[in-house]
Amino acid sequence: MKEDKKQLIEEIKKLKAERNAVIMAHYYQQGDIQDIADYIGDSLALARQAQEIDAPVIVLCGVHFMGETAKILCPEKTVLVPDMNAGCSLADSCEAGAFARFIADHPGHTVISYVNTTAAVKALTDVVVTSGNARKIVESFPKDEKIIFGPDRNLGAYINSITGREMVLWNGACHVHEQFSVEKIVELKKQYPEAKVLVHPECKGAVRVLADVIGSTAVLLKYAIESPSRQFIVATESGILHEMTKKCPDKQFIPAPPADSTCGCNDCNFMKLNTLEKLRNCLRDLSPAIEIDPAIAERARLPIERMLQIS
Ligand code: 13P
Ligand code: SF4
Repeated sequence: MKEDKKQLIEEIKKLKAERNAVIMAHYYQQGDIQDIADYIGDSLALARQAQEIDAPVIVLCGVHFMGETAKILCPEKTVLVPDMNAGCSLADSCEAGAFARFIADHPGHTVISYVNTTAAVKALTDVVVTSGNARKIVESFPKDEKIIFGPDRNLGAYINSITGREMVLWNGACHVHEQFSVEKIVELKKQYPEAKVLVHPECKGAVRVLADVIGSTAVLLKYAIESPSRQFIVATESGILHEMTKKCPDKQFIPAPPADSTCGCNDCNFMKLNTLEKLRNCLRDLSPAIEIDPAIAERARLPIERMLQIS
């Protein structure tokens, strides 16, 4: 039987105080988890915030690579992820051995990796980016710098298009963001002609051309808050609608539909593996905790710190 939500929330608060823990949540987490978190943010904000935290325990309510990033930046802390099966199709698309061969095939290239990668891939990387700072970081290199960008071909193509670069792209994609249907967004625009279209750069180019704004989850949220528009079609994972609706209760947010509207695939199944029960359990058990081979963590730390310095 499902446990009483109110009781679970009380238990989480109590355990959090006992453990001297801080709860961080990504905008794609289910609403109850976002509501109980001490910090919510996009992947860049969570990485920055992790560095500022004094508490000895961080619960990272997000996916595995986000927990790894926090652990790499704070190796002395216990970093818990409520469900360790919370992976990421982008990170999964880029196995470290294959990425090392890709790098070897492109000698003389600087390696830029999206934060949605494993620690082992970050250890092969010169500088990490998130969707919130990719442009700035790519533009910090000379125009003729030869660059490999992995693993998201859509974010890479977007950055190439706005910077005039010709970065060599790894052929990976997010299974959620690739699903949005151009035809259905065009239909929605007919139904809501005043609506602004908010698009995450992991979406395909054909969806990006429909956008009024393209950006990380934090950028899309900021745009929605500051825009005088009342209606927004949102082409990113549906969890962000929770914070958008909270921040702008008088505005209407319409989730962009995926091609197959029966699949619910604008939900990231990995992100949604975390539940209040699992959050309570990980605080109670101090497990599952992120563990990283110290040699890999040490090498992976440099490109993340470089990202934080540049952005
Ligand atoms: P943000 O960098 O916008 O938080 O996105 C992370 C992510 O996993 C997008 O799918
Ligand atoms: Fe990874 Fe896509 Fe889920 Fe983001 S939405 S965590 S990129 S699978």
